[in-house]
Amino acid sequence: MNYYVDPAVFFSFVFASLFGSVSAGGIVVVDLPLVPNYAKAHGILMGLALVVVLPGGAILMRLLSSKGKPTVWVHVGTQLVGWVLMISGLAMGAKVGKILDRLENNAHTILGTVVVALLLFRPLFGFLHHRRFMATRKRGKMTLFHVWYGRVLILLGMLNGGFGLKLATNSPGGNIAYGVVAGVIGATYVAVMVHFEVTGGSKTSSRTPDVPEETSKSQSS
Ligand code: HEM
Repeated sequence: MNYYVDPAVFFSFVFASLFGSVSAGGIVVVDLPLVPNYAKAHGILMGLALVVVLPGGAILMRLLSSKGKPTVWVHVGTQLVGWVLMISGLAMGAKVGKILDRLENNAHTILGTVVVALLLFRPLFGFLHHRRFMATRKRGKMTLFHVWYGRVLILLGMLNGGFGLKLATNSPGGNIAYGVVAGVIGATYVAVMVHFEVTGGSKTSSRTPDVPEETSKSQSS
């Protein structure tokens, strides 16, 4: 990673060292040495959450359900692991953003904050869908909302990782690695979703359930 240091910031740093101030042009100068480790941790945690665990869990769920296996616990487990990774990554990203004065003044942190904030509500919608499903044994509007809400946000989160790498002026190797992994998983995710929709996935009463099997009984619905 390369960090461009503005001359004004550099002289503020010298000034701060001499006179004990800790902030220069919004940048928390004394914490700058923490940035590389925090940024790396942020990128890894967010990448694991948004590029591997959340879409990977959804793909796995579809593969298992197409074989007629109950998937509700795979779904809940992967979503919760992804959720924890994402919140930890958010904490690291917010810390770096504060140190570098990059909170809410660029596409990456703005889109990232919106995506993460909206994803935080997803378990609630999952629970509401589940409660309704248990009462009606049918997939209704809440099911569609829960499913599409997650799909769109996960894809936006993957895209936002690219904006993050650009912001961090990461090495070309790092950018390519992220692009390849995110591209392959993103394309697989979209392909699985399209296949699922084409074969009748999200309809209220469909051959193939669109959400994790609540019980093996629900698979016949
Ligand atoms: C969808 C959610 C997000 C994803 C997938 C994501 C991913 C990434 C990645 C891959 C990097 C590059 C890290 C590196 O090269 O070491 C990065 C950088 C960064 N992220 Fe995020 N991020 C997300 C949300 C956020 C949020 C919500 C914030 C702040 C509130 C944030 C703050 C930052 C900052 C400040 C950098 C630049 C670090 C630097 O300049 O070295 N990110 N992000």
